[in-house]
Order: sequence, then C-alpha cells, then structure tokens
Amino acid sequence: MIIAILLALLTLPALAAEPPAPPKAKAGTTCIESPSVMRRDHMEMLKHQRDDTLRLGIRGAKASLKGCVDCHSTTTAEGRPVPVNAEGQFCQSCHAYAAVKPDCFECHATTPAVKEAAR
Ligand code: HEC
Ligand code: HEC
Ligand code: HEC
Repeated sequence: MIIAILLALLTLPALAAEPPAPPKAKAGTTCIESPSVMRRDHMEMLKHQRDDTLRLGIRGAKASLKGCVDCHSTTTAEGRPVPVNAEGQFCQSCHAYAAVKPDCFECHATTPAVKEAAR
C-alpha cells in the first residue's frame, strides 16, 4: 500500500503536461543572458532591477522589463502587437504552466512602445 502511494507520487509529475514552447523572440537578437540562465533567474533579475529603479532611481541597467517586452512580444499577421501576457504568448505561456501570476502588467506596458509597434 505505502509502496503504491509512493509510486503514484513519483509518477505524477511525469503525467503533467509538457512545458510550453513559448513564441520565438524578435529575429536576429540575443537575450541579455543565455536562455538557460534566463529560464532560471529572470524573476530575480527583474525584481532586483525593479528595486534598484524604484528605491535608488537607477535606470538603463540590463534587466529591463521594457526590454523583455520589446524583444519577446509578437505581432499579428496584420502587424498589430499582441500583449506578452496574453494566452499562449511569451511570458504567459510559462506562467500559466507554472501557475504564477506576477502583477507587473497592471502597471507596465505589455506591448512595445507605439513607435516600434508601428513598423
Ligand atoms: C503599482 C505599479 C507597478 C507594478 C505593479 C510594477 N511596477 Fe515596475 N515600475 C513601476 C514604476 C512607476 C517604475 C518606474 C518607471 C520608470 O523607471 O520609468 C517601474 C520600473 C520598473 C523597472 C525598471 C524600468 C524598466 O522598464 O525595466 C523594472 C525592471 C520593473 N519595474 C519591474 C517590475 C516587475 C518585474 C514587476 C512585477 C513583479 C513590476 N515592475 C510591477 C510600477 C510598477
Ligand atoms: C534584445 C532582445 C532580448 C531582450 C531584451 C530579452 N530577450 Fe529573452 N530572449 C531573446 C532571444 C533571442 C532568446 C532565445 C530564444 C528565442 O529566440 O526565442 C531569448 C530567450 C529567453 C528565455 C528562454 C526562453 C526559452 O524558450 O527557453 C527567457 C525565459 C527569456 N528570454 C526571458 C527574458 C526576460 C525576462 C527579459 C527581460 C528581462 C528578456 N528575455 C529580454 C531576446 C531577448
Ligand atoms: C521558460 C518559461 C518562462 C518564461 C518564458 C517567462 N517566465 Fe517568468 N517565471 C517562470 C516561472 C517557472 C516562474 C516561477 C518561479 C518560481 O516560482 O520560483 C516565473 C516567475 C516570474 C516572476 C516572479 C513572479 C512572482 O510572483 O514571484 C516574474 C516577475 C516573471 N516571471 C516575469 C516574467 C516576464 C516579464 C516574462 C516575459 C518577458 C517571463 N517571466 C517569461 C517561467 C517563465
């Protein structure tokens, strides 16, 4: 009985859906760190950046949320920007899977600045 429960617990994660493959970033760009580092550390990088910006007034350091959105948002076939936190989009695809709901986009833009989006 105990062995059966242990076995069930061990196999559970394997039964869960495969992690999503998020949409590709803007072509011809490189991320601010390697994808494996980004997958592991982006939350901490962003939070530190946020703290520095709000408390110390530092801007322009590399972990910029605006930067993530510039490279990681997609556009529709008609060229309209799709929010990075829309279903299936870059940030949201993983976060839905990981069941995290960062509040960032209540204040921060989910699409690149109009100038870029219009191109
Ligand atoms: C209540 C509103 C609010 C929320 C929620 C919020 N921020 Fe911000 N954030 C700001 C403001 C205001 C600034 C300063 C704007 C500036 O620097 O131009 C800022 C600046 C930043 C910056 C530096 C500027 C940039 O574009 O990179 C980062 C990084 C950042 N926030 C990350 C986050 C992250 C990550 C979250 C979610 C975990 C978050 N913020 C949630 C209001 C918010
Ligand atoms: C200059 C463009 C650029 C910026 C800015 C950028 N990225 Fe990336 N990012 C990429 C590219 C290119 C890749 C490689 C995978 C791809 O092509 O989609 C990538 C990969 C990633 C991955 C791994 C994705 C995967 O499929 O495993 C994560 C996570 C990530 N970025 C998060 C972020 C976050 C969070 C920010 C903002 C702090 C950010 N990126 C800023 C271009 C960028
Ligand atoms: C490859 C998958 C993946 C992608 C793509 C991704 N994230 Fe995440 N993110 C995660 C996971 C997993 C967590 C939860 C980590 C944890 O709980 O330790 C997380 C957590 C976060 C957190 C902290 C949330 C909290 O409540 O503590 C922030 C902020 C965040 N991500 C921002 C972003 C932004 C902005 C993007 C898009 C530019 C993005 N992430 C794209 C996987 C991803």
